[in-house]
Amino acid sequence: MSWARAAGSALAALLLLAASVLSAALLAPGASLERSTRDLDSKRHVELKMDQALLLIHNELFGTNLTVYWNSERCYQCLLQVLANVSGSAKPGAPSIAAAAVSTQHRSILQLNHTWEEKEVCRLEYTFGEFGNYSLLVKPVHNGVNEIACEIIVNKNPVDSNLPVCIAFLVGLAVIIAVCFLKFLLSLDDFNNWISKTINSRETDRLINSELGSPSRAGQLGEDAQPEAWRPSVVPLRLRCVDTFRGIALIVMVFVNYGGGKYWYFKHASWNGLTVADLVFPWFVFIMGSSIFLSMTSILQRGCSKCRLLGKVAWRSFLLISIGIIIVNPNYCLGPLSWDKVRIPGVLQRLGVTYFVVAVLELLCAKPVPESGALERRCSSLQDVTSSWPQWLFILMLEGVWLALTFFLPVPGCPTGYLGPGGIGDRGQYPNCTGGAAGYIDRVLLGDDHIYQHPSSTVLYHTTVAYDPEGILGTINSIVMAFLGVQAGKILLYYKDQTKGILIRFTAWCCFLGLISAALTKISENEGFIPINKNLWSISYVTTLGSFAFFILLILYPIVDVKGLWTGTPFFYPGMNSILVYVGHEVLENYFPFQWRLQDNQSHREHLVQNLVATTVWVLVAYVLYRKKVFWKI
Ligand SMILES: *[C@@H]1O[C@H](CO)[C@@H](O)[C@H](O)[C@H]1NC(C)=O
Ligand SMILES: *[C@@H]1O[C@H](CO)[C@@H](O)[C@H](O)[C@H]1NC(C)=O
Ligand SMILES: *[C@@H]1O[C@H](CO)[C@@H](O)[C@H](O)[C@H]1NC(C)=O
Ligand SMILES: *[C@@H]1O[C@H](CO)[C@@H](O)[C@H](O)[C@H]1NC(C)=O
Ligand SMILES: *[C@@H]1O[C@H](CO)[C@@H](O)[C@H](O)[C@H]1NC(C)=O
Repeated sequence: MSWARAAGSALAALLLLAASVLSAALLAPGASLERSTRDLDSKRHVELKMDQALLLIHNELFGTNLTVYWNSERCYQCLLQVLANVSGSAKPGAPSIAAAAVSTQHRSILQLNHTWEEKEVCRLEYTFGEFGNYSLLVKPVHNGVNEIACEIIVNKNPVDSNLPVCIAFLVGLAVIIAVCFLKFLLSLDDFNNWISKTINSRETDRLINSELGSPSRAGQLGEDAQPEAWRPSVVPLRLRCVDTFRGIALIVMVFVNYGGGKYWYFKHASWNGLTVADLVFPWFVFIMGSSIFLSMTSILQRGCSKCRLLGKVAWRSFLLISIGIIIVNPNYCLGPLSWDKVRIPGVLQRLGVTYFVVAVLELLCAKPVPESGALERRCSSLQDVTSSWPQWLFILMLEGVWLALTFFLPVPGCPTGYLGPGGIGDRGQYPNCTGGAAGYIDRVLLGDDHIYQHPSSTVLYHTTVAYDPEGILGTINSIVMAFLGVQAGKILLYYKDQTKGILIRFTAWCCFLGLISAALTKISENEGFIPINKNLWSISYVTTLGSFAFFILLILYPIVDVKGLWTGTPFFYPGMNSILVYVGHEVLENYFPFQWRLQDNQSHREHLVQNLVATTVWVLVAYVLYRKKVFWKI
């Protein structure tokens, strides 16, 4: 029933497209609601952007000018920022009003002071909702003493900005259920026979076969078909869960790079902390580590000389770094690059360096993989770790270098061992110290103009100095992350006939790394010894994401590879063509169908639809290329 399989997977792809269209259609109503809230407040000229609410401050204090300060609760130890000045009321009973836009992403802290005396009037915390209309009433309380009451009332209810995400999620879930149901139906023999009788007359059978080539070839193209490189005779161990995991990381990466519907939790954390966007890059590095080990072992087993492999590794790293530099400087269509503004670090550059270090390390220390029978002896239960002690020693030394540089490198004008964002953080004491040693090393070695100019810390912490999240120092920790991936690859290969052994080891690593993270961060966002931080690629970030990665493999490996309950569709396809999808999504991000003119570019709903469609298109592109057996390998 090869044609049925092929039809099944084509159907799955179609359904995927339908899902994006459907979510677009389902999300369409509600536009009028948002627009009317965002009309100009004609008198006071405050135009609301997304994630903002209107706050009208009514000052009923006679002759007392007030300054209103604001900050987000998530901004750790930040200076308060002036939100508005409200003059005192001219006569009792006629409040003077000032309007301001307040952010709705997190809980807000408001503080009202007398303008000249710098005396506190009141302080309150409130969570505003998107496009809501609120009034803050400041009035005297007439009970003998000179007290002042502050109170927030809602003039107009906010819109529910998370509704589109919920709908998209439900649509996705419905599609998954529908696909599972269809596959179930197709697996039933009776149903198959029935379909054959109704549609599959001899004529169409012949037609389909001539369309797809001979029947035997059509069989290879089916859902479970494996590309050339996957067959055991060529590469002994290409695990589907590894490609699936890579695809998941890649697809989430495409989605968040395209904007993630402009929701704060689909964007990078401003400084410390984890959001969805912060998860994927380390996972990608981790999986790269596993693949390095698996593919290198099989190449060596085929008798390729180490020297030749070394040359290949160097060439691939060089290519990755070059492609990376080209795509992070996207003015290639506007004439020759201006070299004094070229950004040097970037995602592919970091992948290239990490790849080079880890691959060379593994190559130099490579040992023949033990026969799985030999592992049943008790002393070899730690074989996967003990056999790679030279590598671990090197990794620990590297980590020592990271810790030493981070905590002991003197940075002019900044405290030694500073890990904060600078800007208005830390009470505004170190505005130019963004990233401490990591930022300093990049600024000295590469120069201010050659690193990223818009770090995520500008949003909440108002930082002004350039800081590169893919800088030099953090590369050390991405090497550590990749090496954790190598370790996962070793576990998969060394114990390949012992599913239980693999699962136990994954669990152990997951818990071990989780405990280290808990100790380093004291299970808090900002107060730990080393907080989780994507901009710094702190070691706690690596251990936390490493722990998550082992957990995901713990789930995926039995489902995808052992039991075969899930083929990894649709993530498997982009996972097989990661370089192409990554480079393609970066280069084509401004073109249709990945981006188009939005009716209302302050609407989460429209952004979400656009980003979901763009991501779906990349999945479909990867699927088509997979079927056509086009893989971009470098
Ligand atoms: C907000 O509410 C106030 C009080 O009800 C009203 O005067 C004002 O026009 C509203 N502003 C907007 C933009 O809806
Ligand atoms: C409030 O007043 C101060 C000085 O009195 C001024 O620097 C600041 O820009 C004003 N802020 C706003 C939002 O009007
Ligand atoms: C309050 O502000 C108004 C204008 O913003 C100004 O004319 C007045 O002098 C200020 N009053 C005091 C007491 O500072
Ligand atoms: C507001 O007044 C309080 C109390 O006098 C003072 O400690 C605080 O620094 C003032 N806030 C600002 C932002 O100036
Ligand atoms: C931070 O840098 C800016 C611009 O380079 C400079 O004007 C400012 O004085 C610096 N601040 C400190 C505290 O060094």
